[in-house]
Amino acid sequence: MREDALGYGKPLPRPADETDEAWIAVIRKMDETYAELLTQQVAVEQKNEELEEAQTFIAGLMASMTDILIACDLSGRIEQVNLAAERAFGRSPGDLARLPLEELLAEESPAHFRHLREAVERRARISDRELVFRTPEGSFPVSANGAVRFDSRGRSVGLVLVCRPIGELRKAYRDLEAAHEGLKEAQQQLVHSEKMASLGRLVAGVAHELNNPISFVYGNAHTLRRYSGRLTAYVDAVERGANTATLARLREELKIQHTLANMEGTLDGMLEGAERVRDVVADLRRFSSDRREAREVFDLAVLARSALDWVAKARAPEIETFVDVPEGLAAVGHPGHVHQVLMNLVQNAVDAMEDRPVRRLEITGRSGDEVVLMLRDTGSGIDPEIAARIFDPFFTTKPIGKGTGLGLSISYRIVQEHGGTLEASNHPEGGAVMTLRLPAAREG
Ligand SMILES: Nc1ncnc2c1ncn2[C@@H]1O[C@H](COP(=O)(O)OP(=O)(O)O)[C@@H](O)[C@H]1O
Ligand SMILES: [Mg+2]
Repeated sequence: MREDALGYGKPLPRPADETDEAWIAVIRKMDETYAELLTQQVAVEQKNEELEEAQTFIAGLMASMTDILIACDLSGRIEQVNLAAERAFGRSPGDLARLPLEELLAEESPAHFRHLREAVERRARISDRELVFRTPEGSFPVSANGAVRFDSRGRSVGLVLVCRPIGELRKAYRDLEAAHEGLKEAQQQLVHSEKMASLGRLVAGVAHELNNPISFVYGNAHTLRRYSGRLTAYVDAVERGANTATLARLREELKIQHTLANMEGTLDGMLEGAERVRDVVADLRRFSSDRREAREVFDLAVLARSALDWVAKARAPEIETFVDVPEGLAAVGHPGHVHQVLMNLVQNAVDAMEDRPVRRLEITGRSGDEVVLMLRDTGSGIDPEIAARIFDPFFTTKPIGKGTGLGLSISYRIVQEHGGTLEASNHPEGGAVMTLRLPAAREG
């Protein structure tokens, strides 16, 4: 027993009188006190051990942190740092202790100790503040997070900062930004190609539309020139004073009667051709103007016929087309944009029927509270697996250079802006059916 080892608790000589008894009491008291001290000493030793363990644990934690940890007092003097900080600053903990934090910060640091202090005074957490430290290797940018440190009575006594190097983060951001830029550029290129494709379609359609009336005008102009030659020859003969018999022969030879009879018709034909050219140009103006505010009532049937003429007939004349649309499918909005939608739909149908034995495009329509136009083709139809994605921007199943995947997404948006809907489905007998619905224009 411990008490024995220390020599306490041995029997004492018997006291002879009361004084002895008093002694005994004192000694017992001392005995008790010693015993108490001993228990306390054991408890203290145990506490010490626990404290040491906790300290080792905390030191281990701090040493294993890759982020820099700095604890300083309210005046900015460093009190403690971790291993990562010692490494970053190339100094020992002794060197760093009591050093003002400000001395570790580089001139160009966006935040300085006073900024951190202000944040602390406002009782705000410091989060993601950029600091630039001065290290033997040069400037060392970090992102700092921090909090106030309190003492056991709850008074603020300092600041703890955890700083993460942002070189890596910055690089990751830069890479991300570069990738984003690349993507944006690629998208812009696709948007550009879709615009060029639309323009190409428009130009081809218009060229086809203009071709007929222009050759009409051209042919009639040739006829007129021939007529004018004959008439001039006849008038010359009259002026020369040719006799009646000669003039009669000339009239026969130069087909003067026939010429005069046909003049009117030829001129009418020319005029008609010129008017057609004028109309096509007017259409083109109307369809290509981009004035969004210009809302007008237009006939969906007229637009559908024009889209069919400009796209299908011009580019794929072998396609059989069938239109059953009542006149007067009046809708309101921007006819140029709706014309673009119809051209996109016709072009998709033409593309889908490319290798098909039967190529037939049917446009039917009806009116009521809304005007409805349906385009049915005999193409491949829309695979149910991709049906949900065909209206997505940049979704295409066509090879590069042929499809941009923007046609339907742009069309969808235009139709939506007009308060209508655009739907895709498959016909039970094969081929796709695109259904365009627009609110009917109210009269008056
Ligand atoms: N009439 C159709 N028949 C079959 N598939 C179609 C039809 N219209 C559109 N699609 C599908 O929808 C996709 C997207 O069309 P779109 O947005 O016009 O882009 P793109 O024509 O440039 O591919 C097409 O690639 C095609 O797979
Ligand atoms: Mg398309």
